[in-house]
Amino acid sequence: MYHTKIAGVGHYVPENIITNQDLEKHMDTTDAWITERTGIKERRFFTEGKDTTALMGVKAAKLAIQRSGINKDEIDFIIFATLSPDFYFPGSGVIVQDQLGLPNIGALDIRNQCSGFIYGLSIADQFIKTGMYKNILLIGSETQSNFIELSDRHRNMAVIFGDGAGAVVLSRTDQTNIGILSTHLHAEGKYAEELINYHPGTRNKIRITPEMLTDGSILPYMNGNMVFKHAVVRFEEVIREALDANQLTPKDIDLLIPHQANLRISQFIQKKFAFPDEKVFNNIQQYGNTTAASIPIALSEAWEQGLITPGKLICLAAFGSGFTWGSALVKC
Ligand code: UT7
Repeated sequence: MYHTKIAGVGHYVPENIITNQDLEKHMDTTDAWITERTGIKERRFFTEGKDTTALMGVKAAKLAIQRSGINKDEIDFIIFATLSPDFYFPGSGVIVQDQLGLPNIGALDIRNQCSGFIYGLSIADQFIKTGMYKNILLIGSETQSNFIELSDRHRNMAVIFGDGAGAVVLSRTDQTNIGILSTHLHAEGKYAEELINYHPGTRNKIRITPEMLTDGSILPYMNGNMVFKHAVVRFEEVIREALDANQLTPKDIDLLIPHQANLRISQFIQKKFAFPDEKVFNNIQQYGNTTAASIPIALSEAWEQGLITPGKLICLAAFGSGFTWGSALVKC
């Protein structure tokens, strides 16, 4: 059986920086509240007419392909993880396929929210392991600033989410001692409505009404407290599951890259595993929660900072809407 290595990483974030002080002008919030509860200082918002979820993904992908050393025409398949696609349908993966000029290769969109990148990594790993594909482009990209409302009624979500994209090229390798060691995926659909965007769904015949705009039900809803409580439990559990599956211990991990949901969640996990600061990568301070894009953006920045070098053991873990969660162990 083949193995899957991460051959290249890249990311792109929109240039428009929105600070906590900027948000103070739109809603009853403060830099102190946001910083204390989430760790976030600023985030990026897309520029209409310039960035879209797919186009940001293309920019991240070009960098990942360039850094992978392969030619773009060697890519066999695209997986696109997002909860904020350009269109209700078709998915954003096909736009990437067209924009990159990749002739007729398959493009799969997956909707697993904050766990989307880990789910995508697992899918890609199976395709590569079985020999079906050699090189897969996996993108996580989000444009969330256009469905949060900068208002008092939506302040619990408005201060958290941001826009951006990250991408990786996953390639077949014959080396048995490197690459993705394992992936672990979970879901608990009974909590689907604890972090949800109801509209425009298909339950109602009329999918968007003026009332939805007025009463705010058009906006995503998050039971922040509940998400937080489940996240800290599931993150720990799924990281331990990955370690156990590979007969490894927390000490073996060189770098943990958690989904950037909330700095307090990352710090909680760090404490559980007694990791020193240098073993946990966080960039939520600059980008907020970019959902499916958060892990590949962090992976790309960690690589740029020289933290991902041959021989290192990286642990990726995520939790989010669904609820869905997952982890992956990768030997570089
Ligand atoms: O990516 C995965 C998905 N998301 C997450 O993982 C998020 C998980 N949850 C969280 O990060 C936190 O629950 C939040 C940051 C969203 C909220 O923090 P919290 O400590 O759980 O606050 P809370 O929801 O319990 O609200 C505490 C107070 C409330 O006021 P009252 O009822 O005590 O008077 C809120 O209305 O804080 C208020 N509040 C705010 N105040 C200032 C909520 N949002 C804001 C805000 N600025 N932006």
